[in-house]
Amino acid sequence: QNIGIIGAPLVHGQPHQGPGAAPDLLRGLRLADVLRSKGANVKDYGNLEFKVVPNDFAVVLGCYNARTVGNANKQISQKVAHILKNGESVLVLGGDHSVGLGSVSGHASIRENLALLWVDAHADINTPLTSTSGNLHGMPLSFLVKEFPHLSPPVPGLEWCKPCVSSRNIAYIGLRSIDFREKSFLRTLGICNFTMEDIRELGIDTAVTNALDRIDPEGNRSIHLSFDVDALDPQIIPSTGTPVPNGLDFREALRIARIVHNTRRMSVMDVVELNPLLSTPSRAIKSAQVMVEIISRTFTGKRMRYPSVQDFEV
Ligand code: ARG
Ligand code: MN
Ligand code: MN
Ligand code: MN
Repeated sequence: QNIGIIGAPLVHGQPHQGPGAAPDLLRGLRLADVLRSKGANVKDYGNLEFKVVPNDFAVVLGCYNARTVGNANKQISQKVAHILKNGESVLVLGGDHSVGLGSVSGHASIRENLALLWVDAHADINTPLTSTSGNLHGMPLSFLVKEFPHLSPPVPGLEWCKPCVSSRNIAYIGLRSIDFREKSFLRTLGICNFTMEDIRELGIDTAVTNALDRIDPEGNRSIHLSFDVDALDPQIIPSTGTPVPNGLDFREALRIARIVHNTRRMSVMDVVELNPLLSTPSRAIKSAQVMVEIISRTFTGKRMRYPSVQDFEV
């Protein structure tokens, strides 16, 4: 198995600097060597470098740093496409979740009809008009969904980004903080979603298996796993910008990884919203270590070690 790693330290989709430090923290925990030790062929393409567009902050009302985020995502998209063409699976290390714009677009440009599994506490399907925060990390899906119900006004910097995934081929896992307007988008579009409440009722295996059956009924699609670390409970991953209580536990996250791995069809995984500058340095490292384990299991089916309970003391 060939894996290409890209660092996408984009932070302009939300207000913090910290997510930009996540790729190097994960590398510092020897992510690539962990994957290699489980049999993968790993090539690290390093971090992409993004230019900050001057005076970009409020050029588009309700959509901060649009050109900076847009240009950066064009680079991400091209890099993902390039690595896929090399015959490698791609691991995109964010950065905030606005990197989903480029990552999913790049994937869709190479593989037709991909299936998108969005693991997140949030639905990230606001538009510049419905967002109450103005942060693009809460909007990527509104730009990516083909059937999106209304025409958002064109956003400077994002003109290149064409809707590329059908709402039938998207499923959410782990939702527990959906904005009022987002709820109506999910309903109108009929997007498959398993909230934390659903997961508590059905169990994680049933939720993920049903989600994959829905978005990839024939079992022949290229799978994109967009993993926002805030899907996990803040007690396990405190180092993230928009934590929400009652999230996935570590076992459940590893089950998602296992089930996705077993499809043998995942081509791209994003790991986003890890912010090492939030909580404490030692908790940040533990948060990142949790993600190394989940990444390892997703790509290789195996993981490093079984952490002790103390590893998760808050
Ligand atoms: N729904 C909120 C917003 O649109 C929060 C989004 C959080 N997104 C994330 N990728 N963590 O601002
Ligand atoms: Mn989130
Ligand atoms: Mn539901
Ligand atoms: Mn997200």
